[in-house]
Amino acid sequence: MKGNIPADFVHQVVAANNIVELIAKYTTLKKTGKSYMGCCPFHHEKTPSFSVSPDKQIYHCFGCHASGDVIDFLSNYNGLSFVEAIEELAALQNLEVPYEATNRHGQKTDVTNKIYEALVAASKYYRWCLRYDRNKTEVIDYIKSRGINAKTAQHFQIGYAPDKWQSLYDLLVKQYSLDVLYQAGLIVSREKGGAYDRFRDRVIFPIRNRKGQIIGFGGRVLPNKDAKPKYLNSPETPVFFKNQELYGLYELKLQYKNPDQVVVVEGYMDVVGLYQHGYPFAVATLGTALSQTHVKLLFRTTEQIILCFDGDAAGQNAALRAFEMVLPFLSQNKKARFLTLPQEHDPDSYIQAVGLELFKQEVLEATPAADFFIQYLLAKYTLSSADSLAELIEELKQILKNVPESAYTEIIIQQLAKAVDTSVLQLKRMIAQKNSDKKMLNNERMKRWVLNTNKLSLIEKALSFVINMPSEVHIAFQGKEEIEFECVTEQHFILLDALKIIRQNNGLSSALLVQMLSEKYEQFRAYFYQLLQLPIELQAPQLIDELVAMLDKIIKQACQNELEHLILKAKTSILTATEKQRMQNILHKIRKT
Ligand code: UTP
Ligand code: MN
Repeated sequence: MKGNIPADFVHQVVAANNIVELIAKYTTLKKTGKSYMGCCPFHHEKTPSFSVSPDKQIYHCFGCHASGDVIDFLSNYNGLSFVEAIEELAALQNLEVPYEATNRHGQKTDVTNKIYEALVAASKYYRWCLRYDRNKTEVIDYIKSRGINAKTAQHFQIGYAPDKWQSLYDLLVKQYSLDVLYQAGLIVSREKGGAYDRFRDRVIFPIRNRKGQIIGFGGRVLPNKDAKPKYLNSPETPVFFKNQELYGLYELKLQYKNPDQVVVVEGYMDVVGLYQHGYPFAVATLGTALSQTHVKLLFRTTEQIILCFDGDAAGQNAALRAFEMVLPFLSQNKKARFLTLPQEHDPDSYIQAVGLELFKQEVLEATPAADFFIQYLLAKYTLSSADSLAELIEELKQILKNVPESAYTEIIIQQLAKAVDTSVLQLKRMIAQKNSDKKMLNNERMKRWVLNTNKLSLIEKALSFVINMPSEVHIAFQGKEEIEFECVTEQHFILLDALKIIRQNNGLSSALLVQMLSEKYEQFRAYFYQLLQLPIELQAPQLIDELVAMLDKIIKQACQNELEHLILKAKTSILTATEKQRMQNILHKIRKT
């Protein structure tokens, strides 16, 4: 596994890539005043409302409120992870990414490598057992009874974990430490000491990551055995994260690099069964709900996802959650459809019942995401009752809350307006009521803290100046005494840190300053981008004067606060020597100004 990317390198990459040049490759930009404008690549529009600032090195869309730096742009536009975006930006500048030699749990890579090795050894053993264990006939008969032939079993590297407590353990303990076997999820430790094999008497489905490395296993009980659960899975380990992996994706991509569509199903056996029947385009979540990472992963492989669910209540609930996951990613070339199977079927049994051609046809005719959602709402709520209609609007609000406006949300609103017999405008108003705080894109790097733009504090005003014009501030404060004050709120700390970073870095862009600040104040990233959107009327010289005045006020306020605090303390207890000294200093400062 590759290690972390050092922060310094991230900064270097942000500084080296010009955001205007980068975005110009994706949408036509025209210079207007200080920025460049174009049609937003994140939502459908005819008149440009997407602006890119060469000074700040950020983009912002006034329509859908997408904001960010070069990293955000690539990761949102191409569905890349943070690391992948850095890799691409580095490649554009011919920089080599210096990975740190640890994985994300901070372990040394050699432990991780050992875990991978042990998993491969285990898989080999399980496959060996399928051919040579004394139970092999029973197991092979079962696999055959499910319609799986040897070729398919080979393709998915299906194996068998024998009906013994310690056979894998005994084999692997000669080569691997107990810790490695335990961390690989292959053995379970006993309370009284010692350990036993996790998978026993089960059909084994190895789970491979995108590179084809084995990262875990799913094990199915044989029929007529009462072991529980039906499927036992590897636990989360340093190499296995369930919400980031899809069973069958590696196997699919071995054959098709960019398939026209990928069908997402629930079970291992669905993927295997569909493959056996000539449909290799299925992947399965690993007993978890569909995650954003899954959706991104899928949209990097295909332009169309088909989400396949049971017709029962649990299935439809899962489908709705999946809809919420895909909605922010939908666009002209990223589509999702929903396929609901008849109650008694799962994809594996369904393709056996109807055959390949009919199954393919159903996939082609699956319900488009927007229609699925509208049908869901209309089925759940009765439109004749005012209460029920209000509930419908509330649910709609909740779901649209975290999503930028797009052609898709527009279609949903239009069609619903028709269905509930109101105007689009009226419906939008009803949704907007509680949505004024929505603003930010569905973006993993954009976390919670939200700015109240109607009620800016002094410190927030100062912060907005500093973040908007770091290089001007650098020049103005060069060689001056470092600013210091007692911090009361988080914003105080941020302001001090911002000033410190600016002092140490010449020619810093707003984007890079925000990147550096966000590394420490992660949940403020969206907030920083909001600060960057505030209109600032002043030009550089007045702006600096204004900033200096604000800082003076902030320092004074901070002194006053601290002084009051010290006085209060002096009344109720005794001040320490340092506190006394501090009080002297403050009084001195106040007298001076
Ligand atoms: P299903 O119970 O629908 O299994 O679980 P299936 O895929 O149709 O399997 P067969 O046809 O009975 O062999 C769907 C998925 O849910 C997870 C597994 O990932 C499984 O493939 N699951 C299910 C578990 O993790 N544990 C369980 O006990 C059951
Ligand atoms: Mn099944």
